[in-house]
Amino acid sequence: PQKPLVDRYGRTVSYLRISVTDRCDFRCVYCMAEDMTFLPKKDVLSFEEIEAIAGAFIARGTTKIRLTGGEPLVRRDIMELVTTLGGRIGHGLDELTLTTNGSQLRRHAEGLFAAGVRRINVSLDTLDSQRFAQVTRRGRLADVEAGIEAAQAAGLAIKINMVAMRGVNEDEIEPMMAWAHGRGMGLTLIEGMPLGEVGIDRVDSYLPLCELHDRLARRYTLTRLGTRTGGPARYVHVAETGGTLGFITPMSHNFCESCNRVRLTATGQLFLCLGQDDQVNLRDALREGGPQGLDEALDRAMLIKPKGHDFVLERGKDTPAVARHMSVTGG
Ligand code: GTP
Ligand code: 5AD
Ligand code: SF4
Repeated sequence: PQKPLVDRYGRTVSYLRISVTDRCDFRCVYCMAEDMTFLPKKDVLSFEEIEAIAGAFIARGTTKIRLTGGEPLVRRDIMELVTTLGGRIGHGLDELTLTTNGSQLRRHAEGLFAAGVRRINVSLDTLDSQRFAQVTRRGRLADVEAGIEAAQAAGLAIKINMVAMRGVNEDEIEPMMAWAHGRGMGLTLIEGMPLGEVGIDRVDSYLPLCELHDRLARRYTLTRLGTRTGGPARYVHVAETGGTLGFITPMSHNFCESCNRVRLTATGQLFLCLGQDDQVNLRDALREGGPQGLDEALDRAMLIKPKGHDFVLERGKDTPAVARHMSVTGG
């Protein structure tokens, strides 16, 4: 085996998130502006290039790959990539998974399972169809529900990701938990992060999850779980529902000291932190230097992985901490 990828702070990178497209069929209010300009398709990596980069990471000890976007399932012929990468499971790769908005899940559920995917994360912020239309601006709740149902029928384990927003879905946390846990799915709550211009003031909707944890602890018996999925969430077991609840708290309590991941954008930039601009251009490294150039670029990347992010929310500040949207780096 080749040398593992270790950064200057002694953190080993074993988790690669690949944004396969910056496009999405939704326009969630906290994620995108109403009017988005997407990347020209000619700048997007080919599947061959993504596979080469994924292979270089696997050779250097990456065991977990997650496909993200934008919405990964809107990329044309995406199942071809899923199937090729799925072939690496058991050969260096332990897990291939994806984070999806669920809109296209119904028609892809069986194919995902057949390719070796066993677990997916579905983003869902509300169970009210009108509210869903408001938050996503163009999504239909029924499509996502049908997608989730199909995925479960195909044998995929599901975790629901919910961005907790004051004044938007704050009143739905308990119902969402009962719904998800009642169907055998986990629920993870996420604090909204200041990534990209979205045309709303995120300060108004920021809901610190420590506050929410205390609210839930008064009604439910929460037991902290030591188990980690290699992601940033902290988990508790909820005795009353029998399910697992996760908290992702980049704003109130960052988890950068245990960071194990890097992010590949659809155009081949490797971002070393969700909240910083440090990056290495893997597309050029591959095109100009072949496999060896790519491998050297991974070493260079480890030297510039930053210690952590420093998100701050400031009222009336119209430039977010990081100019690019989550859909560029894939969450
Ligand atoms: P699991 O493998 O199920 O643990 O998933 P995950 O949390 O690694 O992936 P997922 O795509 O479900 O991530 C959920 C959200 O957590 C992302 O969309 C981001 O909002 C946030 N997140 C994930 N990784 C990081 C990170 O390194 N830093 C910050 N600030 N947020 C992150
Ligand atoms: N802050 C927090 N979460 C976000 N997501 C998208 N944009 C943001 C943001 N600014 C979430 C989505 C989805 C995941 C891919 O990222 O809801 O769960
Ligand atoms: Fe699309 Fe996900 Fe962003 Fe919503 S949060 S607009 S579903 S990428």
